[in-house]
Amino acid sequence: MKPARSFASDNNAGVHSKILEAIAAANQGHVVGYGDDPYTAAAVRKFKQHFGSDIDVFMVFNGTAANTLGLKAMTESYQAVICTEAAHIYTDECGAPERFTGCKLIPIATTDGKLTVEMVRHAYHGIGDQHHVQPRVVSITQATEDGTVYKPKEVRDLARFAHQHNMLLHMDGARVANAAVSLGLSLRQATRDLGVDVLSFGGTKNGAMGAEAVIFFNREFCRDFLYVRKQGMQLASKMRFISAQFDALLTGDLWRKNAEHANRMATLLKKEVSRIRGIKIVYKVEANGVFAQIPRSAIARLQKRYFFYVWNEEELVVRWMCSFDTTEQDVKEFAQFVAETI
Ligand SMILES: Cc1ncc(COP(=O)(O)O)c(C=O)c1O
Repeated sequence: MKPARSFASDNNAGVHSKILEAIAAANQGHVVGYGDDPYTAAAVRKFKQHFGSDIDVFMVFNGTAANTLGLKAMTESYQAVICTEAAHIYTDECGAPERFTGCKLIPIATTDGKLTVEMVRHAYHGIGDQHHVQPRVVSITQATEDGTVYKPKEVRDLARFAHQHNMLLHMDGARVANAAVSLGLSLRQATRDLGVDVLSFGGTKNGAMGAEAVIFFNREFCRDFLYVRKQGMQLASKMRFISAQFDALLTGDLWRKNAEHANRMATLLKKEVSRIRGIKIVYKVEANGVFAQIPRSAIARLQKRYFFYVWNEEELVVRWMCSFDTTEQDVKEFAQFVAETI
């Protein structure tokens, strides 16, 4: 029998019971559609409690949309977005950001998923040259696609450089909760206070059923966002059910507990598999993912029992993710199976 839970993705996990309860509780009677309902008002209030009252927040269905529409709001089609080569916006969104914004993405190779000011400086050129796209946004992912986490100073430095050069800082926060707990910061301290202009706030990977949001700390760019979201096909008619999920996630620190747990399980997984000869952990484990180089012969045999993604086929790096519902026993059983197989 296959195990109930695998390590393929935090998207493969189910939904936290408190989120399901919140959805059920919102399933009472009729309310106005498209966001003009008390559940959405309550969720927006929660966001404001966490991030400050002077923000604008818009619910969307998924992370690709949060990134794409957030970027769209900040750019003109002749501009460019600087990101890493591993960025979800560059590798995993089927060109949606390019299609909707019209912008060129400028991908930068990194060793750990993180941009530095030096890298951005190198990509920032052609300014004022009519033949050249104009860099307008620096987009970082926090926690990164490689399971690492930008330190506060690293984000602050990127924000400062961006702002000094007439650019904006976008954060893909599909796993921002994991990053914030890893840094021991509140959601606000990990984002807005570091200079982020627009945040894609992820709920789905942290126990929600399907709830993402675009948060504007810099409100200059959200003036037309209602129209951008609708034209982007992301205006939920029964928005109350997305909003109820955020209300639950942002209440009683559920966001923090879920992320803390997932991160702790990844640290445990790293400890367990590090002991196995033939395995090399390739990136620092700072959030809820473990990236390991393993023998080629083991991959297919492991995948028969536990589905997971090969991150880099040439270098035989695989990705193992933990989620809010991963148990210590899951980790131990998986590590034991890895040891036996290798
Ligand atoms: C870094 C990152 N950003 C965004 C997303 C959101 O993607 P989706 O459109 O599947 O919700 C994901 C999901 O895998 C991700 O890993």
